[in-house]
Formats: sequence, C-alpha cells, structure tokens
Amino acid sequence: MLQIVHLSDIHVGYSDRETAGVKALTAHILGSFPAGTIVLITGDLVQRGSRKEYAEVCSAMLEPLRRRFTVITCPGNHDYSTDTFGAKLSKESIEAYLEFTGAGPFPQVHVAEGVAIIGLDSADPDDRAGFMRGWVGNRQLSRMSSLLAEHDDKLRIVYLHHHPFVWRWTMMMLGRTALLKAASSGGADILLFGHRHWSQEIRDRSRIPLMLASGKSTKPRWFKRNLSFRVMEVDDGRLVRVRTEEVALNP
Ligand SMILES: [Fe+2]
Repeated sequence: MLQIVHLSDIHVGYSDRETAGVKALTAHILGSFPAGTIVLITGDLVQRGSRKEYAEVCSAMLEPLRRRFTVITCPGNHDYSTDTFGAKLSKESIEAYLEFTGAGPFPQVHVAEGVAIIGLDSADPDDRAGFMRGWVGNRQLSRMSSLLAEHDDKLRIVYLHHHPFVWRWTMMMLGRTALLKAASSGGADILLFGHRHWSQEIRDRSRIPLMLASGKSTKPRWFKRNLSFRVMEVDDGRLVRVRTEEVALNP
C-alpha cells in the first residue's frame, strides 16, 4: 500500500511557531511512515521567499524527509514573494524556490504504484494574470489534459497551491472555472490545494470526485493543541482511505 501525506502552508520564517511545527511534523512523519511514502506539499513553504528561509525549511524538513521518502512540492504566492503578505513577486525568490526544492518545470508528474500525481504552478511566475490570487493558464491546462490522458489507467491526482473556492476578492483564483473544467473532463480523481489555511473535504463538486484542502500544517486547528494533516492510502491504484493524522506540537 502506498501512503501519500498532504501538507501545505508551512510558512517557515513567520514566527517561532512555524519552526517548532516543522520540527514536530518532520519527526512524526519520519517515525510513522514506511520508506517510499510520498510527502506532497502544496506550497507556501516559506513566508518571505528568502534564501535564509529556504535553507531553514530544507535543513529542518525537506532534506530529512527526502532521505526516506519522495517529497514533491508546488509553489505558493509566498514562495515567490519577498513581503510578509505574499504580494511582492521577486525573481530571486522564484529562483530560490526552484533551486532549493528541485521542483518543476510545471506541470510536473510523478508516477508511483498505480498513481499519477500532476503538479501545477498556480503562482504565476511571470505575473501574467495575478500571482497572489493564483492563475493557471492555457499552456499548463493543455499539458495537464495530456498528462491525465496519458495516465488514464492510474489514480490521477492533480495538485496546486491556490484554492479554487475562495470568494473573497483578493484571494479569488483567476481562471478557476477553466481549471476545474479541464480537471474534470480530463478525469482527475482527486484535486489537492491549500492557500486558505482551512481544512476541507469536498466531494462530488464541479464533477471532481474528491477535493482536499489542507489547512496550515504548522498551526494547530482552532482550540486543538495538535497539528494535523491528511493521509491518502492507495492500494493498487485505488484510493482506499483518507484519514487525518494528529501530531503533538509539544510531545
Ligand atoms: Fe498562499
């Protein structure tokens, strides 16, 4: 059985809480999952896109996890930006993201044990439509459609950072209707995203069987003291279970 861990919105560099959260998550995942597990992070690894923050998230999380697991990411608006609001696009931040994560070019695909995991860059590095609100243009959508067709014998997971169902003007993803239409008509089984810092399981909406929004993985939910993240269990290319795993922040 293959397990896919979904994390998002790590935001290293924002405060000590994110640093503590990264350490607790990494130790827990290393101690609880077998080699070969996939750890998928849907963006906003860092707060202000600096090399210092990327070095920190690499040494505290990405590198230890990579020694045992497959770690795949996509960029969020904070990864490409130098201000604390994730609103100031910077070429240096984009370069640092690509260098430290080794991700891309997007769309990128990872294939394992009957699963095809297709990653999109919704953070719009050329700022052609709106990098903070998110956008996936026709070039990526058409490549995504080809990849979905190419892997139609597998469980097909598409992931990106931006949330296609946020109605607040400043966070409303551009081109979300085209994205959802291309994902559903291409036969995507699962769509994963983050950005909103709100955990949700959405079933049978926009003709996509399952959409999972990760909360901010380094922040405890509401009154809870524990961090949490979702795990997808896949057996022979079939999703058998989605569960939530809890991690004590101060064990
Ligand atoms: Fe974000």
